[in-house]
Amino acid sequence: MPTKPAAPIDITATDAWKALSAHYAELQEQGISLKDWFAADPDRVSKLTFSTADLHFDLSKNLVTDKTVGLLLDLCRAAGVEERRDAMFAGEHINTTEDRAVFHTGLRRPADEKGKFIVDGADAVADVHEVLDKMYAFAERVRSGEWKGVTGKKIENVVSIGIGGSDLGPVMIYEALKANLSGPACRFVSNIDPNDIAEKVKGLDPETTLMIVVSKTFTTLETITNAKMARWWLLDSLRKAGAIDDSADKEAEAIAKHFVAVSTNLELVADFGIDPVNAFGFWSWVGGRYSVDSAVGLALILAYGKETFQELLAGFHDMDVYFQDTPLEQNVIALMAMINIWYNNFFEYETHAVLPYNQYLHRFAAYLQQLTMESNGKSVRWDGSPVTCGTGEIFWGEPGTNGQHAFYQLIHQGTKPVPADFIAFVNSANPITCEGQDVHELFLGNFLAQTKALAFGKTADEVRAEGTPEWIVPARCFTGNRPTTSIFGTELNAHSLGELIALYEHITFVEGVVWGIDSFDQWGVELGKQLAKQITPALHDDEALAAQDASTKALIEFYRANRK
Ligand code: F6P
Repeated sequence: MPTKPAAPIDITATDAWKALSAHYAELQEQGISLKDWFAADPDRVSKLTFSTADLHFDLSKNLVTDKTVGLLLDLCRAAGVEERRDAMFAGEHINTTEDRAVFHTGLRRPADEKGKFIVDGADAVADVHEVLDKMYAFAERVRSGEWKGVTGKKIENVVSIGIGGSDLGPVMIYEALKANLSGPACRFVSNIDPNDIAEKVKGLDPETTLMIVVSKTFTTLETITNAKMARWWLLDSLRKAGAIDDSADKEAEAIAKHFVAVSTNLELVADFGIDPVNAFGFWSWVGGRYSVDSAVGLALILAYGKETFQELLAGFHDMDVYFQDTPLEQNVIALMAMINIWYNNFFEYETHAVLPYNQYLHRFAAYLQQLTMESNGKSVRWDGSPVTCGTGEIFWGEPGTNGQHAFYQLIHQGTKPVPADFIAFVNSANPITCEGQDVHELFLGNFLAQTKALAFGKTADEVRAEGTPEWIVPARCFTGNRPTTSIFGTELNAHSLGELIALYEHITFVEGVVWGIDSFDQWGVELGKQLAKQITPALHDDEALAAQDASTKALIEFYRANRK
């Protein structure tokens, strides 16, 4: 049983919070004008520009002055962010409600750090590298064709079955690096909606398909159900093709050759019928949404190879080192997190857009939604006491430029300001010149134009000067002062992607510490899971139906009346 930890400080009662409140009121009174702030301070951009190994950050178009930054850093210190960061990096049990260490940073530590981190009594880095070596060896066998399906054919396709943290990270990275695919093509099945698996196995040859069942607990309804459907599909189609007979031995051989698992629960893996030899473990100290760089990323090694995965881990690790070693004043991770707190808790902006100008990052916002919202969408603090201020920003987004033609209208002129992170890369994986135009430059022109428009807007006089009729002038004005951060990388590759993910992991962490919440549990997903188990029988069972509330009953009656 976890023991109750000491209460976090009430961040809203600190001098730093009070000073920020006063500063906020003062700014409101003076009026916020990015235009004026830029004009008054020629060093504004350089003061708010930061670099990590692969990424360049421009924070200058945020609604902050030198004073704001100083006060936000005071708040960060008052919250004890540095101390808790060091506790996390040391593998302490900072996941209080589950009494678990939080040591995903150990997943990317290099092999020469073996022996340095004893977590829960074991040498964590040694354990990590043992599994990595096993994954690399397995992936090499599959990629080279040495590993064969039950009929002796090379594996050409991989289906990775998982959900939440056991899906979003692998699929996001798989899509992000697709320009360099060098192994089997991967498909990802997550939804328990049978439409998902039905579409994903369409056109696949079972003789050349490998299934990876990814589940930290190996109890998740969606994943286990999908894994069972995949097992049925594989055996049934192999039988129909005459590739295997009905014997139990042949079925077991087919499963052994076509199913592997990733889990912390190797007993349940064996119960499912997957040979533990073909299972890749991880540990309770890896949260699901922080697990893509564990064995959960196995599909990525199959698709891209060992070197790419090592580069990804190196990118994560470089960002970890940066986060731990860079003084707060220069630490872009801490600054971005604290600016988010500034908007969330003082301006009371509720949502935060993440807008990658790179089509390969089309699943990045979905990935971030689990990372940030499952981590920080909480109403109680790590000792069970209620939170003392708003928590959990709502993250959302789509790749630019598609978003420009959908929801940017609201970001530019709506009544609900949306702070936004714009992400782009200097070099494109597909450098194309069309009719003399470098298309990537056309794309980047949009990336640059949007943050400029949002920051500096367009005045009524500027609109009038274009000959606009007076009554239409207001509709064509842009207030400006809509905050953005620009993240510009040199190119989207495994290393820069590792940095980008670790950036958001640590931003999420800092925000959680300031709010005093346990960012590593997710009790909020439990009730719905329990109720689904109780309600499902009511779809066909009258006794179970009678036990439902009036609204659920009415919905089920609609279902029964219309089911074909
Ligand atoms: O939705 C809750 C959750 O527990 C996530 O935190 C997790 O990533 C996902 O389900 C999948 O869990 P598992 O890997 O155990 O199947």
